[in-house]
Amino acid sequence: MKQEVQIYFAPFQSITTPTFHNIYSQYFKGVDKMFTPFFSNIKAGEKLSLKDIKALKNQKENNIEVVPQILSKDADEIIWFAQNCQQMGFKELNWNLGCPYPQVANKKSGSGLLQYPNLVNDILQKVSAEIKIPFSIKCRLGYESKNEFDELIPIFNHYPIKEITIHARTGKQMYGGEINREYFADIVSQINSPIIYNGDIFSLDDFIKFQNHFPYVNSLMLGRGILKNPFLPAKIKGLDLPVDLKPHLKLFIDNLYYAYRKEKNNQLSLLSALKEYWTYLANAFDEPNRVYRKLKKCKSFDAYEDAVNAVFEEYNLTV
Ligand SMILES: Cc1cc2nc3c(=O)[nH]c(=O)nc-3n(C[C@H](O)[C@H](O)[C@H](O)COP(=O)(O)O)c2cc1C
Repeated sequence: MKQEVQIYFAPFQSITTPTFHNIYSQYFKGVDKMFTPFFSNIKAGEKLSLKDIKALKNQKENNIEVVPQILSKDADEIIWFAQNCQQMGFKELNWNLGCPYPQVANKKSGSGLLQYPNLVNDILQKVSAEIKIPFSIKCRLGYESKNEFDELIPIFNHYPIKEITIHARTGKQMYGGEINREYFADIVSQINSPIIYNGDIFSLDDFIKFQNHFPYVNSLMLGRGILKNPFLPAKIKGLDLPVDLKPHLKLFIDNLYYAYRKEKNNQLSLLSALKEYWTYLANAFDEPNRVYRKLKKCKSFDAYEDAVNAVFEEYNLTV
């Protein structure tokens, strides 16, 4: 029997905050799990910072599980963070082996660590001996080249990793360039842990093509596709959509704005987070560049509200 598709919402620094997860999950269906952006610079043995505690506010949002993520090459740091997450009631911790930015990767962290299988092995050995919370990984096919992954396969297979999400690019490719689906197919057949596919599923059409190619991969992590089209998970799963998408999307974006105003005590800087999100959401409209330009120039709450109203009046949704 064909398994039901599972959809995970990918993490995005400064966009997928607890507030975003909370409001998103009130308005849209179809997501099974959401991941926090990565936490880093955790001091083993010390209390978590207030900022981190705030960012770890909810273990679930409207019944959707939230999974914290750590970026680290230090086993003690990961173990300490895992213990904190477990105490807070989280059901899983995710390890970031995918961050492509040179300032991270050059320090043997994120996707940069994929070039050092012995180090990955040492960390997994220590971590899996100490932590009780299920541990998952989000990674790339390698940093410089996909050959790096060949050495990681027996290592990953040696430990009880709950799930491995693979963004089917190398770190060097950042977020562009060809996805390597052939190599991904190769890996799927060799890894023992359940595999989650990630990369460039932006539409229902992309999903159908993926499914035709990989009928045996039923779990996907979607990032930019959901940011651009928040209805995408429901569309993929064939769930009921609101009769009129535009007012529904408007309600979501307005409530996200009010929630940020409340959370940030009306600090104007909250507009930056919203503008960052609009770099993706603008693509839901028929003239994305114009839409984004309207939002980008807003320097006050009134200007932002007027711009959002104008966008919803003047442009058509294409999703
Ligand atoms: C601005 C930005 C921030 C991101 N932050 C994170 C992060 O904190 N942790 C992580 O694992 N991936 C992060 N990612 C990667 C996404 O989660 C996702 O893996 C990537 O966009 C590929 O999926 P997509 O093609 O569905 O968007 C980030 C990507 C972007 C563009």
